[in-house]
Amino acid sequence: MRDELKKKADESYRVAEYRALQYYRALHRQVQEESFVPVLTEDFHSWSKEHIRRRSMFSFLLPKKSKPNSKDYHQYIQWLNYTGKLERYLNRSISYIYLRDLGRALDEPKTQERVQQAVSDLKKHLIEATSERDKEIFSMAGLYKWAENQGVEDTLIWLMDKLKDVSAHIPEGMDAEQAQRKLIKIVAGVVMHVLEEEIPQAERTRKLEEAIRLGYSYGLTYPFIDDVQDANILSPKEQAQFSELIRMSLLTQSVPKLEHYEWSDQNRKLMQYIHTELGEAFEFIKTKQKPDMREKFFEQSYVFFQSQEVDRLKELSNPSYTNEELFVPIILKSACSRLIVRSVINADEDEGFNNRTFYYGIYNQLADDFTDMFDDLAAGAVTPYTYYLKYHNQRADLINPFALYWTVIFNLIHHVYQNDPNVREVILDRAINGLKRAKERLGAEKYNEVMGIFATGNPAFNDMIQQLADKADDVDFFDKLLRDHMLSMMREERKEREAFSEMIKSLRAEINMFLPIQTSGANIGELVVEASNYSLEQEGKRLRPIITWVMATESYRLEKSAIIPLLKSLEYMHTASLIYDDLPSQDNASIRRGSLTLHHVYNTAVAEITALFLTQKAIEEQTFLNEFDAETVLKLVRYSAKSVKDMCQGQIMDLESKGKSLSVEQLNAMCFYKTGIAFEVSLLMPAILARAEEAELEALKKFARHAGIAFQIKDDLLDVEGSLESLGKPARQDETNDSSTFVSVLGKGEAKKEMWRHYCRAMEALQNIPRNTAFLKHLMNYILNRDN
Ligand code: IPE
Ligand code: IPE
Ligand code: MG
Ligand code: MG
Ligand code: MG
Repeated sequence: MRDELKKKADESYRVAEYRALQYYRALHRQVQEESFVPVLTEDFHSWSKEHIRRRSMFSFLLPKKSKPNSKDYHQYIQWLNYTGKLERYLNRSISYIYLRDLGRALDEPKTQERVQQAVSDLKKHLIEATSERDKEIFSMAGLYKWAENQGVEDTLIWLMDKLKDVSAHIPEGMDAEQAQRKLIKIVAGVVMHVLEEEIPQAERTRKLEEAIRLGYSYGLTYPFIDDVQDANILSPKEQAQFSELIRMSLLTQSVPKLEHYEWSDQNRKLMQYIHTELGEAFEFIKTKQKPDMREKFFEQSYVFFQSQEVDRLKELSNPSYTNEELFVPIILKSACSRLIVRSVINADEDEGFNNRTFYYGIYNQLADDFTDMFDDLAAGAVTPYTYYLKYHNQRADLINPFALYWTVIFNLIHHVYQNDPNVREVILDRAINGLKRAKERLGAEKYNEVMGIFATGNPAFNDMIQQLADKADDVDFFDKLLRDHMLSMMREERKEREAFSEMIKSLRAEINMFLPIQTSGANIGELVVEASNYSLEQEGKRLRPIITWVMATESYRLEKSAIIPLLKSLEYMHTASLIYDDLPSQDNASIRRGSLTLHHVYNTAVAEITALFLTQKAIEEQTFLNEFDAETVLKLVRYSAKSVKDMCQGQIMDLESKGKSLSVEQLNAMCFYKTGIAFEVSLLMPAILARAEEAELEALKKFARHAGIAFQIKDDLLDVEGSLESLGKPARQDETNDSSTFVSVLGKGEAKKEMWRHYCRAMEALQNIPRNTAFLKHLMNYILNRDN
């Protein structure tokens, strides 16, 4: 059976290989005949008219605004707009996406219309946005809003959880951000195919949901098959086993058990995760394949996998690979990787797409291999470039990949896309851009050295392209800018996230030191202090005083020593509210912060009295805000006392809701009062002390409201998803108490959506807060992603 299947699969591999071989042979012939030289020379000649500008005599009269570094995302876009180049820039960039990702021919009127539309939408988005944050294409809030418009919020939330999970499982020695970026790129590529379809919204929603899941499922193979195999994490034996496992899955259409193979202790956990994730992905894709297409899909997947294997297993130390051995597998793998995107979503067969994509693949591959040449060389990977670098002196028969690249370009423009001027423009732009980027990356000296090896064919042609690389302008692409920007943003975000959690940890440790209440030394009044200290000494997150601390010192430049009483005050108040909340008359909880609740350690009366004492102690602390003038402190105390009333009201709403089903409005109001107010207080008190403007207080209130409600929804979600160990308090309390929460009323899915809505609203509110929004942004991410 197994051998039978393997024979059949190998047969289809040979058929695919044969086609690739034909293509390769045609290209080889053209390289030898140099037939691309006169034609591309002619093409470049007319192309350069638009790209090499002589300075006008009057250019000195124009206001000067020098070109910013193209890596400076926002500034660069502004500059393009200022100089009137933005539209063309976007046009070539989006046209390129239609070529590469959608496999379109650009001369179809429909495609032109779509490109135009996308250009004007994107332009509008990029230049109309007023704040930096608005301009951000990848903000979570922006993405979520898109999902809302398309009706795919659930799936987006699912995807975000998955991406988080993947990045947490990427082993050391692999790049978590790159893995995420690749996955996102593939999901986006798959999603684009659906967005191009003209279908009613309901159908589009359904197809988008599927496309996101399918895109993720297919995309997983990049970090978890391809990159893992390239990363030298597995031993050679494990690598071979892993390949065998994948091969068997594709041949038998079902994933073998992991236990059938042997894994070293250090890799077993990783392999378990990968096996589960890939296994689920595999099953999901399988169920979505139309029965009559399924065979073909697996055949195609096998060809893709096999061509990658053949390619990967080559060794740079082997001096005798033939040109066919070097090029045929990469023609196959680069074509398959894109062809499969349409198969995966079960799109209808499209002959034009199949053809164009087949011929296009190697073009992209050679451009990428050129870029990665030295990294690949260092990793010992065989690509046409690394192999040529190593053996060109001793192997006169080797095809120069750089010459082949130009041949492929010639072929695409003149044969595959039949001379379409749009295609010519985009591809030539891209080619010159590639050289410019290489020169920038390598430095002139190294670049010239590289060109000395590769640009050796026709001297006149090479002179021309080098000159163009030096002088031509307007060849930049948005996807490159976006890629760099996205990576640096993700890395930056990660660093900030780590710094944020470090900061929280160290502030928490410091706060813990000054929370305990001093005993007076006298005999009376000691029990209430002892009981208070019991509650205060347990491990709480100290989120409220942390917020106050950061806002006070970073936003308002107040002295830490001046606000210590305020920090204590906030945590005393909060701890009191938890003591009350846990009482038998309220939530009747036996564990809090990982230990017995106060009324279990003492009794209900002591717990009640202690909580009362703590609320008063909180006010006492406020009166020690000696560094601030009396009127300001009075304002603060008044605000504080008034807030307690709101919190009490919230708690009553909560208790009265037991056994009832509240409306979403009621839930929002209840959570705002019982939880949101405490966040408001932590944010507003430092602002009050710093005498911030009323408008700023209002903006902070708005943020606090949504942050607080989001915090409570997360608490409700953790109540059903968490455990006593992770939470430090019993799970499923709300169910036991028959409480009305976002989860009990709406269910988990809808509760998550509501939480995300508040997240977006909080992020919006940030735009009106003048100071330290980075901290608040991270706070929101923390609130949504915390697990206790
Ligand atoms: C618990 O607050 C009460 C709610 C508002 C849900 P926290 O989750 O901040 O509890 P601690 O202070 O870390 O124990
Ligand atoms: C607590 O809400 C609100 C307070 C401010 C006390 P919960 O009752 O859901 O808090 P936990 O889950 O017990 O911490
Ligand atoms: Mg409660
Ligand atoms: Mg409770
Ligand atoms: Mg709760």
